[in-house]
Amino acid sequence: MSLDYQFPENFWWGSAASATQTEGGENGTKGKNIWDQWYEQEPNRFFENVGPEVTSDFYNRYKEDIANMKKIHHNSFRLSISWARLIPGGTGEVNPEAVDFYSKVIDDLIENGVEPFVNLYHFDMPLELQEIGGWENRKVTQAYADYAEKVFELFGDRVKKWFTFNEPVVPVEGGYLYDFHYPNIVDAKKAVQVGYNTMIAHAKAVKLYHENYDGKIGIVLNLTPSYPRSQNPADLKASHICDLFFNRSFLDPAVKGEYPQDLIDLLAEYNQLPETEPEDKDLLKENLVDLLGVNYYQPRRVKARDSQPNPDSPFMPDWFFDNYEMPGRKMNPYRGWEIYEKGIYDIMINLKENYGNIESFISENGMGVQNEERFLVNGRIEDDYRIDFIKEHLKWLHRSIQEGCNVKGYHLWTFMDNWSWMNAYKNRYGFFSVDLKTQQRTAKKSASWFAEVSEKNGFND
Ligand code: NOJ
Repeated sequence: MSLDYQFPENFWWGSAASATQTEGGENGTKGKNIWDQWYEQEPNRFFENVGPEVTSDFYNRYKEDIANMKKIHHNSFRLSISWARLIPGGTGEVNPEAVDFYSKVIDDLIENGVEPFVNLYHFDMPLELQEIGGWENRKVTQAYADYAEKVFELFGDRVKKWFTFNEPVVPVEGGYLYDFHYPNIVDAKKAVQVGYNTMIAHAKAVKLYHENYDGKIGIVLNLTPSYPRSQNPADLKASHICDLFFNRSFLDPAVKGEYPQDLIDLLAEYNQLPETEPEDKDLLKENLVDLLGVNYYQPRRVKARDSQPNPDSPFMPDWFFDNYEMPGRKMNPYRGWEIYEKGIYDIMINLKENYGNIESFISENGMGVQNEERFLVNGRIEDDYRIDFIKEHLKWLHRSIQEGCNVKGYHLWTFMDNWSWMNAYKNRYGFFSVDLKTQQRTAKKSASWFAEVSEKNGFND
């Protein structure tokens, strides 16, 4: 008997995580990355002064974690490789201990029937490379391509799904516009260059992969639907600019191999076109992704400001959007983000209609909760709110599939509670809770629910 919401055969059920957020920076040998550096310089910028040294200790406990993945019927899991662990100086010598670690993790996943999806870069620039400008410096795109080539050579025989970057717009926003990532610069022109160089690095890695390997390579983008808050022309324009900058400046080059003309015109108007090289156009055009990961949390509700536009940039904060007071919207009461499940459907329909129905999956979706211990009952977190959150998103995803969208899977952020950058352990997202004193993992109620959904490949309402 078929279920109310039956998903296509071989649907990817799983979750995602990243190296810096789970492994523990002081475990094993590793070069420093920008997070180690920033925490050392300004520990009080991090929630409760908790840094990236231990996090959820995946480095030592990966076997137990993978066994738990198997228990809840994951058939896939996304991890990232820490560039500074594998190549401690960012370029040059490879660290054999890191090769051994990632090799074991990949083998263990495969042995347990969990397909590894491997991401190369999740916000974690090696310090030496940041010191020469990070993504501002074109040379770093080549260092990244060399790193990618090494990783493919080491693990390409076993890993068949690769991602070049996770949410490449976030280091742009965090590091160069809004001061929530190192190097904490606020400079719109640099922000544009950083975004552009990231996509050049991306295309170089895609090229290398396609030349030598037969799996799939893609990128993970946090596609954030941009909805104007009214139909007045200023709001419509602001919403369009948001979409161009936060979504299409990555989505278009990745899937179509070129930047939207509107974006180019807008940057030219503000004298902010990035520096480019003659070969870039072909590089982007010829190296398209096979697969797109979509991270979806909440939409942007865009409203133009009444005050004068910022003369330096169309993308600086405070000018054209304001996401913070949203009367009549459903909110996550435990964290304050909007919950708008239909956004997931709107994204997929857009990919179908305007991006050649590219193969895609939800690579992150999830619900952060502060002080989640308040929901502990007999030692287990009864997270019915998370079950509801996942279920309602899955219903819209299911509908998009029925309407012909090429959607292959759903991964929750995240497998177990982990360190979330400046927020450290403030918001918990996992299927498994982690006691930070003992590192003990305990399945939440949502883990059991999701196990059943994954096993049956669907659910009843
Ligand atoms: C997206 C990012 O990929 C991840 O690193 C982060 O922790 C989650 N969002 C939650 O904010």
